[in-house]
Amino acid sequence: MSERILITGGAGFIGCHLAERLLDAGHTVTLLDNLSTGRYANISHLEGRKGVTVIIDSVLNEPLMEQLIRESDQVYHMASAVGVKLIMEQPVKTIETIFGGTDVVLRHCSRFRKRVLIPSTSEVYGKGVSVPFREDDDVLTGSTSKHRWAYACAKSLDEFLSLAHYKETRLPVVIVRLFNTVGPRQTGQYGMVVPRFVQAALKNEDLIVHGDGQQSRCFGHVKDVVTGLAKCLEVPQAFGQVINIGNEAEVTINQLAQACIDLTQSKSKIQHIPYSEAYGEGFEDMRRRVPSLEKARALLGYKPTLTLNDIIRDVAASLRGN
Ligand SMILES: NC(=O)c1ccc[n+]([C@@H]2O[C@H](COP(=O)([O-])OP(=O)(O)OC[C@H]3O[C@@H](n4cnc5c(N)ncnc54)[C@H](O)[C@@H]3O)[C@@H](O)[C@H]2O)c1
Repeated sequence: MSERILITGGAGFIGCHLAERLLDAGHTVTLLDNLSTGRYANISHLEGRKGVTVIIDSVLNEPLMEQLIRESDQVYHMASAVGVKLIMEQPVKTIETIFGGTDVVLRHCSRFRKRVLIPSTSEVYGKGVSVPFREDDDVLTGSTSKHRWAYACAKSLDEFLSLAHYKETRLPVVIVRLFNTVGPRQTGQYGMVVPRFVQAALKNEDLIVHGDGQQSRCFGHVKDVVTGLAKCLEVPQAFGQVINIGNEAEVTINQLAQACIDLTQSKSKIQHIPYSEAYGEGFEDMRRRVPSLEKARALLGYKPTLTLNDIIRDVAASLRGN
């Protein structure tokens, strides 16, 4: 059945891929974005397509949000301050956008009884060391004087508020903890590692690795991730749940850098710099971040199909195209 879907942050990296997926499934979509980190170019190919409305505005415009949510059947609240670099440079905006925006969305979804997806992040697992991370694990973040943790804490507060709405009024809300999500149209501008590396490799420039490069991550292809997201609001058992979505294949940042060089047949070298040079003194990072996808598999039938090499090839093809 065709539904009316509001995607906040619809001109962002994940939002625009999600829009394509939902349009292909026959839904109509409204894309709201203030173009702070998103780009009109991400959705220019969609504007004009049947069933698409584009609105350039903020989720903090509450009268507008009230109207858009009332007119929708489902809401994907993808708008957020994103990227370690942005979070370190604009900590006030980070907290206000994340918590303020989610508060507006949840209040009106609760009021009009709309299904809503709230994306959270693997950052909420903080400095946890017991991988793979399971949704009900304890979390350990750093001191409040370290701005990096503001993102994780603001997203944790979003989770608390979502679960509070579920508890008090059975709001049909699903919280998704996204692990590193990568693919075409993501920019390296805000500190995202894969587009940054692939871009440097294509230009035969040094790939700058922060720290010793032995820290590891798991990278999910955005195509797999949006398949998981689109499933969440179709499965009533997912309401009121926190679910990890990503890919379980773990790779060190040194291995990632080498794979980017190899797959683009680049002459680039890998250069290591201290975290303090990249983000200032006192920056803290986590060594490993691996999702348990057991719950996503059980509730949603989620299974990633694309590999890191697929991701690097697709990112390189899209950057070459630009
Ligand atoms: N990409 C990842 O690896 C990753 C990992 C964990 C969580 N997430 C979460 O997924 C969601 C989407 O992230 P993304 O990677 O697509 O980032 P993105 O920066 O491309 O998308 C966020 C979008 O929100 C928009 N936005 C920001 N503030 C806004 C406001 N006040 N009003 C309207 N729009 C606003 C931006 O312009 C941008 O288009 C975010 O909630 C993010 O925290 C992403």
